[in-house]
Amino acid sequence: MTPETAPTVRQLLDFYLEAGVDCALTEVPVNRLSDPDRPLAMAAAPASPVGATAPAIAAVRAEAAATPEAALQSAREAARTAPTLEALRALLEQFDGCALKSTATRLVFADGNPQARIMFVGEAPGREEDLEGLPFVGRSGKLLDRMMATIGLDRTSVYIANVIPWRPPGNRTPTPQETQICLPFIQRQIELVNPDILVTLGNPSTQTLLSTREGIMRTRGRWFDYDTGTRLIRAIATFHPAYLLRSPSYKRLAWQDLRAIAKAMEAATVFSA
Ligand code: URA
Repeated sequence: MTPETAPTVRQLLDFYLEAGVDCALTEVPVNRLSDPDRPLAMAAAPASPVGATAPAIAAVRAEAAATPEAALQSAREAARTAPTLEALRALLEQFDGCALKSTATRLVFADGNPQARIMFVGEAPGREEDLEGLPFVGRSGKLLDRMMATIGLDRTSVYIANVIPWRPPGNRTPTPQETQICLPFIQRQIELVNPDILVTLGNPSTQTLLSTREGIMRTRGRWFDYDTGTRLIRAIATFHPAYLLRSPSYKRLAWQDLRAIAKAMEAATVFSA
């Protein structure tokens, strides 16, 4: 039998890339099978917190090795205590309850204007977002910018965030548990921004925030009430720009959604004048 030749470095790298492994987490390899108790990644020494209270910070740090249930509980309590967006960001910087943090380069909190009347929410950051620390800066972000521009919006007049603020490794789909743990933070972020209109981009964001199990083909273009706990916000679902890049024929429907959004913004202006 002829022995198989060893793969070249290039073939190995291609194999890893195809499997979604596109970044190194540490300088040297770690054999996790030999030491199952080793944590997945060493959290960096936390920077001094800005704005969040000391008990809240202590609570979120304590979750590093806790169970998912404890992490969820801690996320709920921490998010509820954040009085401002800056405090919420500081809490997330310190929060160790979501494993995605340990593989991401940095937190991707938000972009745009915190005073905006309209807020867009996507699923999770991709590679470019992870490197820059800002949501929607890659290819799909460029399309989102063009979509917003068609109705006279740009990043000075909108606020943009994601349900998950850390990039899942290799852009894999976040697990339901990761989504649940991050949910209290995006809910608090929406409550603090308090926009007149909330736009969910794509299925995961729509299903998570608008509590629907229907697919985007059925939910897009429909208005929902999003309850912050203190106020009902008008919310609408539309296609994720990454989906539109893959299926450009749906841009026609996305354009209808954008027109509905523009009309609702006009109505909200007249109503509040
Ligand atoms: N896709 C998202 O859902 N969010 C981003 O920030 C980038 C791509």
